[in-house]
Amino acid sequence: MDMQAIPAREGNHNLKNYEDFRKTFSWESVEKNFSWHETGKVNMAYEAIDRHADNPDKKDKIALLYSDPNREEKVSFEQLRLQSNQFANVLKKYDVQKGDRVFLFMPRSPEFYQAFFGILKIGAIAGPLFEAFMEQAVGDRLENSEARVLVTTPDLLYRIPQDRLPNLEKIVLVGAHEEEGNQYIDFDSEMNEASTDFDIVWVDREDGMLLHYTSGSTGKPKGILHVHNAMIQHYATGEWVLDLEEDDIYWCTADPGWVTGTSYGIFAPWLHGVTNVIRGGRFSPDDWYKTLQDNHVTVWYTAPTALRMLVSHGEEKVREYDLSALRHILSVGEPLNPEVITWGLKAFDLRIHDTWWMTETGAQVIVNIPSLEIRPGSMGKPIPGVEASIVDNEGNEIPPNQMGNLAIKAGWPAMMREVWNNKGKYESYFINGWYVSGDSAYRDEDGYFWFQGRLDDVINTSGERVGPFEVESKLIEHPAVAEAGVIGKPDPERGEIIKAFITLNPGHEKSDELLEEIRQFIKKELSAHAAPREIEVKDSIPKTRSGKIMRRLLKSWELGLPTGDTSTLEE
Ligand code: WTA
Repeated sequence: MDMQAIPAREGNHNLKNYEDFRKTFSWESVEKNFSWHETGKVNMAYEAIDRHADNPDKKDKIALLYSDPNREEKVSFEQLRLQSNQFANVLKKYDVQKGDRVFLFMPRSPEFYQAFFGILKIGAIAGPLFEAFMEQAVGDRLENSEARVLVTTPDLLYRIPQDRLPNLEKIVLVGAHEEEGNQYIDFDSEMNEASTDFDIVWVDREDGMLLHYTSGSTGKPKGILHVHNAMIQHYATGEWVLDLEEDDIYWCTADPGWVTGTSYGIFAPWLHGVTNVIRGGRFSPDDWYKTLQDNHVTVWYTAPTALRMLVSHGEEKVREYDLSALRHILSVGEPLNPEVITWGLKAFDLRIHDTWWMTETGAQVIVNIPSLEIRPGSMGKPIPGVEASIVDNEGNEIPPNQMGNLAIKAGWPAMMREVWNNKGKYESYFINGWYVSGDSAYRDEDGYFWFQGRLDDVINTSGERVGPFEVESKLIEHPAVAEAGVIGKPDPERGEIIKAFITLNPGHEKSDELLEEIRQFIKKELSAHAAPREIEVKDSIPKTRSGKIMRRLLKSWELGLPTGDTSTLEE
């Protein structure tokens, strides 16, 4: 759909001279914003929290504006400094060392953020897990990372396969009750006893900070390691893209189990010392509009699936709330439909700024910013300091308006530094000096990038990245399932839904009950978002002669598309 460009935003904002700025920009110019530029002492937790707490004008400013349906809390930078010191002392007591992996598996809550910064302060690597993960998903991640400590809640304990995890020495329970017994560390009582003084463990900019697991088309989820140096890009994009200013009230709707919820739910806003709204609980349009209204949110970072749901509830719903504080909206995670942008102009009288990046990139890469016109349907242009392009399979750049691999010149500040325990996988991302994203796109003559799709079989359902292999492996663990092939099927609201094709073992008959049972099995073992919404029973699943499931072919059949080259198909 061709739509008119939406002109640049008027008024006071950053990167007014984007094209010129790009030409002369170097990342060193951002480094002067950090205390380590002078002191040489690096730690993300210091820059995001303690530095503001050390500033008499800022220490009592609200850092965290937390609410869920049962709780409301305001936490200042100074309080968060002291609380995270306490948690760092708890970790110290249990001998946690620099570089150890400490995982968090719990819903968003003030305790989550206290623990998160405590982990960074002791120099350990934080691994936040999405609270909806079930036993297999949790187990795989803790096992692969060899996590030594896990912070969780009593409700989630049953999903932790402790027998499988010899490296997991300690579990810290937030909100422990007596019945869990004393094999666990009680967060509250340890925090009460812990000193609020802690000497931050200074690290190297290249030391590990954060491990996020994400899915590819093959194999188990992989651990993407980010280092403290990423703060340079979090800070810069916080200014250029989020357009953050001193008095902003900022809300990022993503859970910290996903990269958006850390890079832009934690780091970027707090590096800028702005008040960060954290909302727990489930999505509902009324709740979201109320969150925007009651907190006077000025800058809002969300996702296309959520926006599409809001669209489906209509403009009248928006009018029931006072959203007059809102001045800047951004989106990430999936293609942002031009229709949603048009709706946003009417409903909020604001442009919605699409941003493209990935877990592996660690921070925003291709963006729409206030000073540039928006071409609805385009992801925008690369940030200064980052070179993006379209390359062929050998890593050679190709001309405008031709589809190819969306690629980024390796070496930007927030780039992943390692795939945990998997050097080969890490190296396989890079061709001829380019990081090759797995997305296909083209670039127009003016340098705007247009997303076309995934080149591999990774599924994007409601903005959540799901690997088909993980779902297939789980499906065949069900006694009725012989073989399984899993694809993403286009869906107007969710972007894609997960569809599974299965064959049944002898002695099992197809029935609605059985299919529902299989669906529940995935939900129970992996997570609700990984459970196939559609399951189709087939007589056979197409495979290559070497036994690989031909998901492409399944997808072509499903969509009624030409099947292309099937010469490798098994008889
Ligand atoms: C997709 C999320 C279209 C893309 C930060 C990418 C997008 C994957 C956009 C990364 C966008 C992300 N338009 N597609 N603006 N942003 N994607 O690792 O396929 O969870 O490769 O990181 O989401 O998902 P991930």
